[in-house]
Amino acid sequence: MEREMVIVLDFGGQYNQLVARRVRECNVYCEIYSYKIDIQKIKDMNPKGIILTGGPNSCYEEGAPTYTKELFELGIPVLGLCYGAQLMSHVLGGKVEKAPVREYGKTQVFVNPASALFAGVGTKSSEVAAAPLAMAGHEDNTNATQCWMSHFDYISKMAPGFTSVAHTADCPVAAAEYAEKNLYAIQFHPEVLHTVEGTKMLYNFVRGVCGCAGDWRMDSFVESSINEIRAKVGDGKVLLALSGGVDSSVLAALLAKAVGNQLTCVFVDHGLLRKNEGDEVEGVFGPNGDFDINFVRVNAQERYYAKLAGVEEPERKRKIIGEEFIRVFEEEAKKIGTVDFLAQGTIYPDVVESGLGGESAVIKSHHNVGGLPDYVDFKDIVEPLRNLFKDEVRKVGLELGLPEYLVYRQPFPGPGLGIRIIGEVTGEKVKIVQDADYIYREEVGKAAAEYKAKNGENPSWMPDQYFAALSNMRSVGVMGDERTYDYAVVLRAVKTIDFMTAEAANIPFDVLQTVMSRIINEVRGVNRCMYDLTSKPPGTIEME
Ligand code: XMP
Repeated sequence: MEREMVIVLDFGGQYNQLVARRVRECNVYCEIYSYKIDIQKIKDMNPKGIILTGGPNSCYEEGAPTYTKELFELGIPVLGLCYGAQLMSHVLGGKVEKAPVREYGKTQVFVNPASALFAGVGTKSSEVAAAPLAMAGHEDNTNATQCWMSHFDYISKMAPGFTSVAHTADCPVAAAEYAEKNLYAIQFHPEVLHTVEGTKMLYNFVRGVCGCAGDWRMDSFVESSINEIRAKVGDGKVLLALSGGVDSSVLAALLAKAVGNQLTCVFVDHGLLRKNEGDEVEGVFGPNGDFDINFVRVNAQERYYAKLAGVEEPERKRKIIGEEFIRVFEEEAKKIGTVDFLAQGTIYPDVVESGLGGESAVIKSHHNVGGLPDYVDFKDIVEPLRNLFKDEVRKVGLELGLPEYLVYRQPFPGPGLGIRIIGEVTGEKVKIVQDADYIYREEVGKAAAEYKAKNGENPSWMPDQYFAALSNMRSVGVMGDERTYDYAVVLRAVKTIDFMTAEAANIPFDVLQTVMSRIINEVRGVNRCMYDLTSKPPGTIEME
């Protein structure tokens, strides 16, 4: 049976992966392609619907990203968002120009609930406190809701056949439809959470207009992947470098379910992991854990510290840690003998960001797409998580019975604490960071859990990533009657959607003070604690 799919045509906007994620939340499988994709390929894929995303250009400018008119004549429902909405109007004979008012931010929008896009969306405008905007033909039958607007241009004249089905105070065409042809355009961004009922609108499109059944679910994903892995691997041997991060742990659990002890996981403890992490990974995947696999833990701490002794330059440290990993892994692989398959924990954002999927190609050197290790002999690779977003990987992990602390683990860089210790790395400094970081995570976790118990949701300050780092600075302090000359710990916490840009999280001051006093009292060698306020850019999230 052919899997039903919606495709997202990426015109270079910043929320494009978010669009695909929201569609998948509607249980509809979705893939992202660059707007440069040939129309024949789209026809071959036979999607149930097409979504055109936002983008940074003006569609009427020469050389702006565009798409052939034929796209709208395939009989496949199309939804244009922001730039996509403007482009649809432009290509089909409407007019797009610079808007008299730039709309940006949370905006009240009046939608026509008779439109298939807005079925069940919003509250009757006449019942909303703020006086509804008088627009010819819409006064009595609109519903009001909040949307997220961000545009310079607007649709000043709709293409023939289209009618306006939403407006705001400054935008007469906040959405338009040509219902007979299943063409829809939305000027705002239903994919961001500030559009309160945005997911419902996307649901209405993919499940209502496109008629998708919604059978993309993680339990059926697990079942079909296990079958696919078995078919591919047969009785071959599979090797996996298990880091203990979310992706490789979920991958290990999935492979374990599929091929059991044909799988060998090599877990290199480089001595730059968080406190207790090595034992936690061994607890889950080792001989006393839940899986019948071959688990090899390599305790390479001393080897790493020796290599890193005296090295201060960040890139050099990264390189040493990376190269040493290859060496250790290679040695272990040799002991195992020939393997048939190498498993990789590539996930969908890696694929998209490596330029293989959408348009917003940002190549990150630490992503493992395309870079196959040439130091292990194998026939082929297995990458069963390649089409999943991170939140889906987590769902698969829970489905497979992995513990929550592993599944909801924060992002942790490959070079580990090596890049959270400024300057030379030593065993002593690693211990300080591990202990400080443990206290920090414990206290923030506790404060967040208390808030959630009271309010039913995470606090707005809940960081997307937070950790302690060690500055290479020592300074004077007093402890009791004694003068100290010790290290300063840096507390980092950021709010971010995509980890490309970030802001310091507004953790309550009393929580930070508890963390500070516990770290200084409990961690030997620390007499100062600082909170890092830097956003990204200009800072990065990690210290090095
Ligand atoms: P930066 O410091 O670049 O971090 O703002 C952005 C995100 O990427 C993670 N990060 C890494 N992940 N290997 C990884 O697997 C690395 O070398 C690496 N460097 C940074 C970082 O933790 C943050 O989530």
